[in-house]
Amino acid sequence: MRRFALICACFATASAAQLPLMPAPSKVTRYEGALRIDSGFRVVLTAYSDSRLMGASDRFAAHVAAQTGIPVTAGKALTLQVDCKERGSELPTLGDDESYQLDTTSREISLKSRTVTGALRGFATLEQLIEPGPDGFQVPAVRIQDGPRFPWRGLMLDAARHWMPVAVVKRNLDAMEAVKLNVFHWHLSDDQGFRVESRRFPRLAQLGSDGNFYTQVEIRQVVSYAQERGIRVIPEFDVPGHTTSWLVGYPEFASLPGPYAIARKWGVFQPTLDPSRETTYAFLDAFIGEMAALFPDSYFHIGGDEVDETQWKRSGSIQAFAREHQLATSHDLQAYFNQRLQKLLKKHGKAMVGWDEVLSPGLAPETIIQSWRGQASLAQAAIEGHGGLLSFGYYLDHLWPAGQHYGVDPLDGAAGNLTAEQTKHILGGEACMWSEYVSAETVDSRIWPRAAAIAERLWSPRETRDTDAMYARLANVSRMLEWRGVRHRSALEPMLSRLAGGPVPQPLWTLAGASEALGIEGRRNLRENASLEPLNRFADAVRPESDEVQALEVMVKRMASEPAAITELRANLTQWSLNEIRLQPLARNNSLLSEVLPLAANLSRCGKIGLRALELIEAGHSAPAGWVQEQNRELDRLEEPVAQVRLAAVRVVRALLAAVPSPAAASVTPQTLGNASVRWGNERLRNSAATVPNWIFEMARSMIAPN
Ligand code: ACM
Repeated sequence: MRRFALICACFATASAAQLPLMPAPSKVTRYEGALRIDSGFRVVLTAYSDSRLMGASDRFAAHVAAQTGIPVTAGKALTLQVDCKERGSELPTLGDDESYQLDTTSREISLKSRTVTGALRGFATLEQLIEPGPDGFQVPAVRIQDGPRFPWRGLMLDAARHWMPVAVVKRNLDAMEAVKLNVFHWHLSDDQGFRVESRRFPRLAQLGSDGNFYTQVEIRQVVSYAQERGIRVIPEFDVPGHTTSWLVGYPEFASLPGPYAIARKWGVFQPTLDPSRETTYAFLDAFIGEMAALFPDSYFHIGGDEVDETQWKRSGSIQAFAREHQLATSHDLQAYFNQRLQKLLKKHGKAMVGWDEVLSPGLAPETIIQSWRGQASLAQAAIEGHGGLLSFGYYLDHLWPAGQHYGVDPLDGAAGNLTAEQTKHILGGEACMWSEYVSAETVDSRIWPRAAAIAERLWSPRETRDTDAMYARLANVSRMLEWRGVRHRSALEPMLSRLAGGPVPQPLWTLAGASEALGIEGRRNLRENASLEPLNRFADAVRPESDEVQALEVMVKRMASEPAAITELRANLTQWSLNEIRLQPLARNNSLLSEVLPLAANLSRCGKIGLRALELIEAGHSAPAGWVQEQNRELDRLEEPVAQVRLAAVRVVRALLAAVPSPAAASVTPQTLGNASVRWGNERLRNSAATVPNWIFEMARSMIAPN
């Protein structure tokens, strides 16, 4: 039985850029033809083989079955030949060879790699190539030669502020594998929770976690699950600050006497380990020894960020210690602490990773600096001979649009001036998912699909920078991740249904699709500011970036050439215009819905402005003098956040207003179009005319009547 059937090469060859691959490979050659995926297929491991590769090939088959709905049965026909030369390092290791070559023709598929990890990366690409075609599912004929730009491509997950059960971690590891991220940085302790069982120091988790912590058995399972997927696991135990939860069970290691209680608010807190006492180092020695055995990677993250010096200043014994050791400032005291810690890590076979606050003279050269406060520290780390990771610009909790993260490159800014030798120290970066306003239920939608844009920035050649093309591919990845069990899209329906107390009514869907959740900056100091506050509101349900609005923005681009786009836009604007009146009866006696009624009112107003703009565009009539400006001012008002949500629909209407014929048409400039916001976010666009994409000018010019 033939597993992949040959089909005729009767469809047009698309350009490589259109292949729905993310991260985009370094080199793609497209050929005529495609291989049809028939019922079942077989993966043949023609060279090196081991349990990890066999496991990966089984997972690949399962993913293909899920994606296509075609049951995969073991068959004899030769289908996918995997020619892997050797195992590679026993455990995923920094600098592993992850390159591969994939050849698909209308007859067969071949995947070549030097290492098992390279083969895994090839499987991930192949899955993304599967598409519906004229005769069913198919794989287009291509040659792909690919390898990563940076060796360290991470996702940090904060399991301390909100608890993230093992199932959440595992499905996010699956998603990481799909987009070729290779480091899972697990933030395991903070003021609000200590999340790992320690047998040496049981009160850490017993008293510091509200009962939510990973057992050692679970940690081993996750580490092994990640290893199978070519992902390293780096634990972070943040010291000496951010340690309130440690001190609940062990106040004797604090800089001032306790008692201590788990922090319930967000922010930077005073409880800090005592750097002046030998007992602190004896404790850390034993603790790190225990954790070093659980986490096999040779790197270990010690945090080191945001140390509040209050306790150190108030402690007479710490001040005496500082004087005795000539440690003039709290930064010097922290540097002393870090150096002591570094010796302990070395004793247990680990190199240190720390946030950029740890950068100071005297650090061992193998220390890696993770820059979160700016790009300058990344360059400084490289100049001083340390490895550097960029996370500034990759903070997912800010809920930036994917395109904004995508625009940040580890070699931008000060790192752009490094010598070739210094540049080698820039190892990559990490997307960071801090969890102040993120729960196990919402975390997937706060990570995905936006983290895929960062994954591409870190894997693909630097020249891969076209944001529109990225968005087109991101939509495909987002859909694919659903098949891997990630709940970034599917969690929306039950969360909205919970708000409605029944099936999700259409106006609520409409409002959710027109809205985007605000990130941490927009939620600070608002009603909920505590870890026990539920994250069950409309702002928690809606996504950071609206696919619906994005699709409508594309329609605005196309409306000059596609009459159907106008029809579609009108239908949506009409729905928007009716939102308030339709939602009102549903919100009666429902506080969770009532809080979004002002948002619904804004959406209705927005829809009405859009409908009027569309009328003028269709009729080719110019707007009355000052009308467009007046409407844009109104949109400024409608864009003000309500219930921690931003009305994304405003962007569509702004783009329509920019296309309304006006007497000033002939003098369209980036400045006049500065408000025609697209997906990059309003401030960026207003502040920088250079970021207004060409299509806006072209569309506006083409649509503006000559009068
Ligand atoms: C950090 O965001 N404090 C590393």
